[in-house]
Amino acid sequence: MTETTATTEECMANEIKGETWEVIQYLAMALKADNEGKTEVAQTLRSIAMDEAGHGSRFKYLAGKIGDLKGEIEKMLAGEKEAVDGKHEGMKVADADGKKEVASFFDTAAHDEARHAAMLQNLLDRYF
Ligand SMILES: [Fe+2]
Ligand SMILES: [Fe+2]
Repeated sequence: MTETTATTEECMANEIKGETWEVIQYLAMALKADNEGKTEVAQTLRSIAMDEAGHGSRFKYLAGKIGDLKGEIEKMLAGEKEAVDGKHEGMKVADADGKKEVASFFDTAAHDEARHAAMLQNLLDRYF
């Protein structure tokens, strides 16, 4: 085993960062596989992505990075609301750039963010 001077916290922080990157990487690879008609490849990559998400999230939880649930949900709600404007901004830039597919996806994602905000607000109203 190689000697390491890193603390447990540093090791966990590295894992959280690495696993987060992997989730996006595997899911993006799966989209490419889907577009090439390689359905089983896409499914396998998605399955791995979910494992990586499980690793990253468990490390984050074990690192004590998740505080009081109400506060965490409120923080995420604020972020989702900001994301709506951010995505619309990206949509305008992509549109001006002539990147129609990208602009269209920014718009779709903006709607998703608004829906996420509504879902979180609903949780706050009903459970907290
Ligand atoms: Fe992993
Ligand atoms: Fe979101």
